[in-house]
Amino acid sequence: MGVLRIGHVNLRVLEMQSTLNHYENVLGLIQTDRDGSGNVYLKGWDEWDQYSIMLSESDRAGMNHIAFKVENDADLDDLKRRIADWGIAVEEMPAGSLHNCGRAIRFNMPSGHEMYLYAEKKRVGKSVGTVNPHPWPQDLKGAGVHWLDHALLMCELNPEAGINMVAETTRFLQDTMDFHLAEQVMVGPESKIQAATWLFRTSTPHDIALVGGAHMGLHHCAFYLDEWTDVLKAADIMAMNEVKIDVTPQRHGITRGSTTYFFDPSGNRNETFAGLGYLAQPDMEPITWTEDQLWRGIFYHTGEEAGEFTSVYT
Ligand SMILES: [Fe+2]
Repeated sequence: MGVLRIGHVNLRVLEMQSTLNHYENVLGLIQTDRDGSGNVYLKGWDEWDQYSIMLSESDRAGMNHIAFKVENDADLDDLKRRIADWGIAVEEMPAGSLHNCGRAIRFNMPSGHEMYLYAEKKRVGKSVGTVNPHPWPQDLKGAGVHWLDHALLMCELNPEAGINMVAETTRFLQDTMDFHLAEQVMVGPESKIQAATWLFRTSTPHDIALVGGAHMGLHHCAFYLDEWTDVLKAADIMAMNEVKIDVTPQRHGITRGSTTYFFDPSGNRNETFAGLGYLAQPDMEPITWTEDQLWRGIFYHTGEEAGEFTSVYT
């Protein structure tokens, strides 16, 4: 099977207490552990592994690494070989290198982002259990997000210099880990420059997305909600807590999801994202957005750039 899904994101935060208030009381994540280095681990109520967010204090915001879970331990050997054959240095990491995880492999994608793959992580179960479960727990805080849904990574794109880390990293994810292309934005003369991609391993339109920019970084990590009214209510909760909202609730053309973008206290962009979009399958024909319809793809209703979408990221 190979890669199952996004496992966790390790975010750098400037100050832990205000950040925890944001992730626990606004988003509604559940704190499940801390370690001796001061890192804090959280999960959504609908997730069963111990954490999907790892917070690390730092003097600058951003992402330390992104990790994906694979189905079987033996997948790690197979993927290690395929990644090395592609020309990327891979490091074998012993069990425990990732907190409460089994052995892992570590590498940098062509874009420069650090990625881990692992097969085992401590399980703590869903808040509603697995025997005759209620549809949701009654002690939810804030927006009550279900799970970490996806991350969007910024990759260096400089066509004049012949640099397109979106295209190269997309090809890397397809070639080595069998990610499938759901949607892409093609720009430039004859629409030959692949400026953004949305890729999946699950059956939703994206588990990871790559967008071209001046330099690499984290654009956002997104948390899943059931439906549009939940996205609206989550934005209400952000206003009540004076969270800095980047883009108010609306729909994406790309992936069809409904969305709100906002920032954590360190300036890392988050998204609450609802709707499974459409059934993504390996044999679907990828969807292409042209340069003139790029903003219709991002913000479907206005078709215009909103907030600080391309200019601000960590
Ligand atoms: Fe997103």
